[in-house]
Amino acid sequence: MESRLKQIREEAMKQIEASDALDKLNDIRVNYLGKKGELTSLLKSMKDMAAEERPKFGQMVNDVKQVIEAKLDETKAKLSAKVREEQLKTEVIDVTLPAKKNWVGHRHPSTIALEEVERIFVGMGYEVVEGPEVELDYYNFEALNIPANHPAKDEQDTFYINQDIVLRTQTSPVQVRTMEKGKLPIRMIAPGRVFRSDEVDATHSPSFHQIEGLVVDKNITFADLKGTLAEFAKELFGPETKVKFRPHHFPFTEPSAEVDVTCFKCGGKGCRMCKGSGWIEILGCGMVHPKVLKMSGIDPEEYSGFAFGVGLERIALLKYEIDDMRLLYENDIRFLKQF
Ligand code: DAH
Repeated sequence: MESRLKQIREEAMKQIEASDALDKLNDIRVNYLGKKGELTSLLKSMKDMAAEERPKFGQMVNDVKQVIEAKLDETKAKLSAKVREEQLKTEVIDVTLPAKKNWVGHRHPSTIALEEVERIFVGMGYEVVEGPEVELDYYNFEALNIPANHPAKDEQDTFYINQDIVLRTQTSPVQVRTMEKGKLPIRMIAPGRVFRSDEVDATHSPSFHQIEGLVVDKNITFADLKGTLAEFAKELFGPETKVKFRPHHFPFTEPSAEVDVTCFKCGGKGCRMCKGSGWIEILGCGMVHPKVLKMSGIDPEEYSGFAFGVGLERIALLKYEIDDMRLLYENDIRFLKQF
């Protein structure tokens, strides 16, 4: 037994001295000192020894154990120091190298335009609300006085999920949802994505953004509509801006109008921007149709309201003089960087 112990000690020392990596040291530790290690099994075999020999032999095993442990620790410290030294040599930091440029993102032109529109209406006391992009046919069409046989409901124009559910189109579903809640008066805008079945070109896209607007209160007249939208146009395009209301038709408003603003580029004289006319169309609007109020549970004898819809992309294109709508969707850094 004693000679075996001696042998173990010598072997361990040799192995430790020869090891050149930290994980090898660990293997050695396990082999000799671990639960199933050589020293442990020697200790276990002590049960076959005469009782009086046991303490002495136990002491000897412990001594060897300590010697091996000490050697392991010492070697580990040396190897760690060596590893660290090599690391320091290879991972040099050259403080004279030019710094890496940190790219900071910024807002998309459509977002900038939207925040501008929101700022203007919030300043006039409007609330900003949101509604679902996947909408019930009822809110998107039916409740907006667009009956089943209306051309806007054609499958050519609208993405249908099924007969009752559509990707919302450029109508005013959030207005209906807001009116239905029954809290009056209402002063709100609702920006969001709308969809229509369309080919992509410089001025069309199957998905774009509309900002719906709605005011419902007692004694709201067309004069309120005109005043509000004229103020909006001035805030957005500059104090010189004039507005023109052209009669139009929307199923959900009566009377309805489209609004043109004097071209902010030429001031109305006529230029390339306004195709020579001096005017640029920016939105659709009108007095909320009494039937629409009624369907949402509002008494048209007591309340009236006006509503409007602004195309966000159109505003961004005009404001930043961008001539192709596709640029807003392509996320080309060279383009986006300019705003
Ligand atoms: N959606 C209309 C358009 O296609 C604009 C519009 C008009 C929206 C009147 C409205 C509204 O919400 O009440 O141009």
